[in-house]
Amino acid sequence: MSGVNEIRSTFLDYFKKHGHEVVPSSSLVPRNDPTLMFTNAGMVPFKNVFTCLEKRDYVRATSSQKCVRAGGKHNDLDNVGYTARHHTFFEMLGNFSFGDYFKEQAIEHAWNLLTKEFCLPKEKLVITVFSEDDEAFSLWKKLTGFADEKIIRIPTSDNFWSMGDTGPCGPCSEIFFDHGEHIWGGPPGSPEEDGDRFIEIWNLVFMQYEQTATERLNLPRPSIDTGMGLERFAALMQGVHDNYDIDLFRALIAASENLTGVEAEGKARASHRVIADHLRSTAFLIADGVLPSNEGRGYVLRRIMRRAMRHANLLGARDPIIYKMLPVLVREMGRAFPELLRAEKLIEETIQLEEKRFIKTLERGLSLLDTAVDGFGEGDELDGETAFKLYDTYGFPLDLTQDALRAKKISVDTDGFNSAMERQKAEARAAWSGSGDAATDSIWFAIKDKVGSTEFLGYESERVEGVVSALVVEGAEVTQITEGANGFMVVNQTPFYGESGGQVGDTGVLLADGVEARITNTQKKTDGVFVHSVEVVKGTLAVDLAVELVVDGVRRAAIRSNHSATHLLHEALRETLGEHVAQKGSLVTSERLRFDFSHPKPLSDEDISGIEHLTNQVVLQNTAVETRLMAVDDAIESGAMALFGEKYGDEVRVVTMGDDLSGNKPGKAYSVELCGGTHVTRTGDIGLVAVVSEGAVAAGVRRVEALTGNAARAYLAEQDAHMKAAASLLKVASADVPARVSALLDERKKLERELAEAKKKMAMSGGAQGEQPVTEAGRFKLMARVTEGLNPKDLKGLADEAKTSLGSGVVVLINSGEEGKAAIVVGVTKDLVGDVSAVDLVRLGSEALGGRGGGGRPDMAQAGGPDASKAPAALEAITSFLSGK
Ligand code: ALA
Repeated sequence: MSGVNEIRSTFLDYFKKHGHEVVPSSSLVPRNDPTLMFTNAGMVPFKNVFTCLEKRDYVRATSSQKCVRAGGKHNDLDNVGYTARHHTFFEMLGNFSFGDYFKEQAIEHAWNLLTKEFCLPKEKLVITVFSEDDEAFSLWKKLTGFADEKIIRIPTSDNFWSMGDTGPCGPCSEIFFDHGEHIWGGPPGSPEEDGDRFIEIWNLVFMQYEQTATERLNLPRPSIDTGMGLERFAALMQGVHDNYDIDLFRALIAASENLTGVEAEGKARASHRVIADHLRSTAFLIADGVLPSNEGRGYVLRRIMRRAMRHANLLGARDPIIYKMLPVLVREMGRAFPELLRAEKLIEETIQLEEKRFIKTLERGLSLLDTAVDGFGEGDELDGETAFKLYDTYGFPLDLTQDALRAKKISVDTDGFNSAMERQKAEARAAWSGSGDAATDSIWFAIKDKVGSTEFLGYESERVEGVVSALVVEGAEVTQITEGANGFMVVNQTPFYGESGGQVGDTGVLLADGVEARITNTQKKTDGVFVHSVEVVKGTLAVDLAVELVVDGVRRAAIRSNHSATHLLHEALRETLGEHVAQKGSLVTSERLRFDFSHPKPLSDEDISGIEHLTNQVVLQNTAVETRLMAVDDAIESGAMALFGEKYGDEVRVVTMGDDLSGNKPGKAYSVELCGGTHVTRTGDIGLVAVVSEGAVAAGVRRVEALTGNAARAYLAEQDAHMKAAASLLKVASADVPARVSALLDERKKLERELAEAKKKMAMSGGAQGEQPVTEAGRFKLMARVTEGLNPKDLKGLADEAKTSLGSGVVVLINSGEEGKAAIVVGVTKDLVGDVSAVDLVRLGSEALGGRGGGGRPDMAQAGGPDASKAPAALEAITSFLSGK
């Protein structure tokens, strides 16, 4: 019953039996608290339930919550490895009452569980209460029968618990275990309390207040929050005195001993502990979506990882080893935390990548550090410039340098480090402002400098709390935006995607106490600063306000699906058209996707249906879409498609989708691209892809547009409706429409031909009345006809025929065509060519028809004119000319 996994289930089962909902651990990245870097206690996910902002359908809960204390108010990083009970990652077992039971029952539950289920000897336990809490004192007294000196009143903040500077808080009562006289230390509150004899095992917090930035309010309903560190309780149950000696840590440390070949003894002990502890926080943070970076949570993770790597180096490891310990962690904890199993590959690759990158510079940095402190003694201080150089050039976080010097008792001039950092920022700013970027953008640069980058949490969630860090109206920073006004807002963390990589920015709403605003767009202004366009609908939006940011989820889902489909389309185009296809631009909106690519000629219908077929095959595979972080070079080497000329950071997100279809890369993914966008979880989420247009954008660049999901379905339904309407008009089945239309077109051509023949015949046969068209014009025979609706191309042929039948003379044909326009053809038989020119005659006619010019040969010329109603005048002009000859 004393293994970590058994203790966890005994605890949860006990409270389940007593009407508590067993709630799975929440993410290490709190979604409901913008002031908190990591979930650092079991109550964090329930914060808003305590303050009645959020309702759940239970009033009692129990959980084993993942916690990280490596940044912010509760930060244990520096102590890890050197003490028996500090961790960056640990589990907190807890039971909670939300306005249901209070002190009495909380105390009874704790006592019963410890003494009856876990069978701890009563006499080994010692209790503390907040000095003013008489009620808790007497409840304990009644229940335990302890003498007064075993229920110790503590007047300090040790017995008044708060999560952070703000939030729910209250007096607390702690249960300690006495490990016996043979261990040095005194009871809580005594001068020797820091010794190891009395160890705190459980903290019961009587949540009564909410601390705001300015005052302490009474909570609407007094509640209970308790916390028991699983690792230290396991140590107690396993009869060891050190958390690192419990089953779980023994397994991890054994793995690191194996990999380094160094036993966990003497100086090496701390290093093994650091590695084991940091592996846990690293793996769980990555599983919860944090990836190493140079900002915010990602930087804390990087610090943890690099600290572990330096200790691996101290143990003599010169190649990446930490990632090889992951299977042991997954074996120990994967059952209780399935997210570890789901993210195993991502965690492994991310650790290995970070190890590879850092190992390159670690040795050189360490030797620089050795030289810098050569001759230093205990109590000396390393200058800030050197510490900054280690940071800037070798990627040594400040605390890594401090940790490395700790054993020699050398400190670091942190002020000097900070001023070197400031100087570098100022230089970067000066270089930037000289680079000629638009003046309006300089404000964002200044804001970035002041408030730092925005942390983007939108890969994991669409609803997150953030704190307003800057507001801008008409190009100037302001402290508030009032109801009805518009402006721009920067927050410390956001789920809103900032327009980039072709994907449009997110829209949605912002909510806070009495404040409501629409977010109509999100853009990335300078590197890492997400700027939200806001329209304040209600109340006043102010700097420092905590706000809930809610992305329009329906729109985001459509964008996701269009973005993922763009990747599939890209690959399908390459497979269908050839490797020369390269992305030239793309636009991903919620309505449609647009993709521009290099290709010299229009796509045929077969090309398009082939592309649609391929993309939809991958959609149907319904495989998981995977995202991992890689070094740019490695990513490109692994076949990821990158955009030439695009700026990538040192590390990139690589998005992988589907399984190979072509058989050209068996066992490989269908599509691998560098991409920072948001994507579907499985390819099947795209639903359907339909290409709706294809065209040219520029020489050698084509554009396709496509729809996905419901939009694609609606489009195809509309096409189908058109088809059905056509089939019903044609009175055939849909499948017979093409054959029927083709037959109708043939028939129409035939009829047109017949009609033209009939018209010609009529024209040349002297019209319906059979009148004789040949007259005399001076000494010339003249055959003149005015026709209607003939094909102008036929006129010359008709004139030739007329010339033959005339023998000698002049032929004039004027046809009235579309919109009353005239075409005129004049023919002169060979024998008369010396006397009169068809070109002269046609010009005369054309002038009379309102036209100009005309051309041809002396025996046959043609022209046009805008006004066929003037045909009689044209004939008159020609006749009188001929008569005068
Ligand atoms: N929230 C309390 C703690 O973290 C139980 O100690």
